[in-house]
Amino acid sequence: MRILSGIQPSGALHLGNYFGMMKPAIELQAQGEAFYFIADYHSMTSLFDAAQRRRNTVDVALDFLACGLDPRRSVFFRQSDVPEVAELTWMLSTVTPMGLLERCHSYKDKKAKLAGDDLDRVNHGLFAYPVLMAADILIYDSNVVPVGRDQKQHVEVTRDIAIKFNNLYGETFVIPEPRIRDEVAVVPGTDGQKMSKSYGNTIEIFGEEQALRKKVMSIVMDSRTPQEPKPDAERNNAIQLLNLVAPGEVARDYLERLRAGGLGYGDLKKALFGHYWDCFAAARQRRAELASNLDHVEDVLRTGAEKARAQAGVVLRRAKQAAGI
Ligand code: ADP
Ligand code: TRP
Repeated sequence: MRILSGIQPSGALHLGNYFGMMKPAIELQAQGEAFYFIADYHSMTSLFDAAQRRRNTVDVALDFLACGLDPRRSVFFRQSDVPEVAELTWMLSTVTPMGLLERCHSYKDKKAKLAGDDLDRVNHGLFAYPVLMAADILIYDSNVVPVGRDQKQHVEVTRDIAIKFNNLYGETFVIPEPRIRDEVAVVPGTDGQKMSKSYGNTIEIFGEEQALRKKVMSIVMDSRTPQEPKPDAERNNAIQLLNLVAPGEVARDYLERLRAGGLGYGDLKKALFGHYWDCFAAARQRRAELASNLDHVEDVLRTGAEKARAQAGVVLRRAKQAAGI
């Protein structure tokens, strides 16, 4: 089984990224041949600062390796180190109906958000984003794509494009499947909406302790008193995050105490911070070690790119031959 996923270097990675995509991807390493990459070409659709992109790329590499991506088992690389993917993107774009892209929620949301302040930023790359993503997936003959729910539609677009190409030119691409874990499909942010860089409601995986404590303590609660029983306790944002970072029995105990009444929100958030901090203690240590040896990280990405390119070349040749190129 070939497993593939990517993540953009568009800012510090957060708990939504970790539980929605990185942790499932890391666990899947045991079940097949995994290809994971840093989607730097994708980040060009919304990040226009070259130095920032370079820094973010190193940060994503450090975060992913620290969290358990094992380069001896998985192929880990930078998207742009495999130029074949850009070539395949063009070929796929010629079998992609405009309407398919116009229906993409992610594009529509970004467009709506930018429409107010900066229409020039609604660039062609933002529109064609799912075609590049389809090339990422199809060029490695991927079977399974672990992602959070917001990326499901993009994997469905990939399937449509692959089927269309196969119908036109003969069996060329493997049809991939999204792999989405229900329990972490949408990790809530500090305001209760989906945790996302673009909503400013993130809690990062790594960072400065006091700043992160402040973020956890700022998680939005309602105005009920501590004594009041809370029959809807399982929907509480802090409880939902505690379910992810604390041992099961600890999270259940807090849930019961909140439901019964008597547990204050401040105490709940303090407990959440403690468990969150412990949950990533080992990874924090590994990250510090990796950060002091960036040559090693660069070596990992370079070796990964060589392996990825070898595979991408095979599929690109297959696609060109099928299309008469
Ligand atoms: P952001 O919304 O912060 O820009 P990205 O779109 O870069 O995050 O997401 C990278 C990966 O992390 C994707 O697979 C996405 O589905 C997953 N992901 C991001 N936020 C969440 C979330 N709140 N819950 C679950 N998965 C998420
Ligand atoms: N679009 C994905 C995101 O923003 C990143 C990505 C790019 C990706 N190419 C991919 C994910 C291929 C899975 C497979 O999160």
